[in-house]
Amino acid sequence: MAKKKVAVLTGGGDAPGLNAVIYALVRACSPKYDLIGYKFGYRGLYNNDFVELTPQTTSGILHRGGTILYSSNKDNLFDYTVEENGEKVKKDVSDVAVQNMKNEGVDALVVLGGDGTLTSARDFARKGVNVVGVPKTIDNDLASTEATFGFDTAVNIVTENLGRLHTTAESHHRVMVAEVMGRSSGWIALHSGIAGSADVILIPEIPYTLEKVIDKIKAREAAGKHFTIIVVTEGAAEKGGQAVVGRVVEDSPDAIRFGGIAAKLANDIEKHVTNEVRHCTFGHIQRGGDTSPADRLLSARYGVKAADMIEKGQFGNMVCLRNGVMDFESLEVVLGSSATGSTAMGLSKRVSLDNELIQVGKSLGISFGD
Ligand code: F6P
Repeated sequence: MAKKKVAVLTGGGDAPGLNAVIYALVRACSPKYDLIGYKFGYRGLYNNDFVELTPQTTSGILHRGGTILYSSNKDNLFDYTVEENGEKVKKDVSDVAVQNMKNEGVDALVVLGGDGTLTSARDFARKGVNVVGVPKTIDNDLASTEATFGFDTAVNIVTENLGRLHTTAESHHRVMVAEVMGRSSGWIALHSGIAGSADVILIPEIPYTLEKVIDKIKAREAAGKHFTIIVVTEGAAEKGGQAVVGRVVEDSPDAIRFGGIAAKLANDIEKHVTNEVRHCTFGHIQRGGDTSPADRLLSARYGVKAADMIEKGQFGNMVCLRNGVMDFESLEVVLGSSATGSTAMGLSKRVSLDNELIQVGKSLGISFGD
């Protein structure tokens, strides 16, 4: 009898830990199962573009960021752009993907992704595909799991770079505004802001007022601290205002990319203080480089758990971390039960106002701009 086959794909923006999940999954499934990896996420599934994954071909990737399978955050096969009679039209091409998997003898599909990618995973599960989801995103904004892999690495990178901003800010008596990723969730800013000794942390969940930010800078001046470090989530907004849109990415399930709040805020602040103000955007550096030890461990655990779920036939679910233990949750619960093919984003996990870290930050004297 032919061996069973497991396929894996990585979708959405990359996150450190994707390779570690692949590494663990391949080892936990081999030699019982054959494995293949579709390239560039769902696009590879549609184009039947894959590579074989073995312990040999995945050797040495545990620590490496990025993804050996490449990724795309555009290709929703339930609402896919194809060319017909010289015109671009949107079509549901998911049946092509299902047929490709049938032809290739794929018994189970492991999908590593955030809410956009996992929404399609849920939709493939509805079509009868044996799907297991694995929660990826540096933003840590996926519901139903205590942690997504990639987040810890991003927090490490931001924390280290806030340290670098401190020394130069102090030399010039400047206010430094650092913009970090996270979309509409402030997890990266909250964790790295406290760990990196920021003076002001601005997150989307707590609309700020310019007045409170200026108050903090002036209070530090009065206390003989002639520099201020502000960390702001890309999706944060002033009370009564709107988040700043950096770009709109056509064909992406999450088309809006926030960006530009640090520049706006620096400009606003400069009108009210005597210090010079500079801003910087940490950007994709937050997703680059090697994976942190904590993310390597989390990813390895996710990969092994996904293999265990395949073995037990626990399909239609996402691996999750619950009370520190590996568990799983239905993709219908994780993403909510929106219509198949919908580009509406799934349920997101935002920082709640009673989060202990907000209280901790306030006790340390950090301003949240409120
Ligand atoms: O969701 C992960 C993330 O890195 C967000 O924090 C950020 O807004 C977005 O992806 C950036 O997307 P892109 O890679 O398309 O610029």
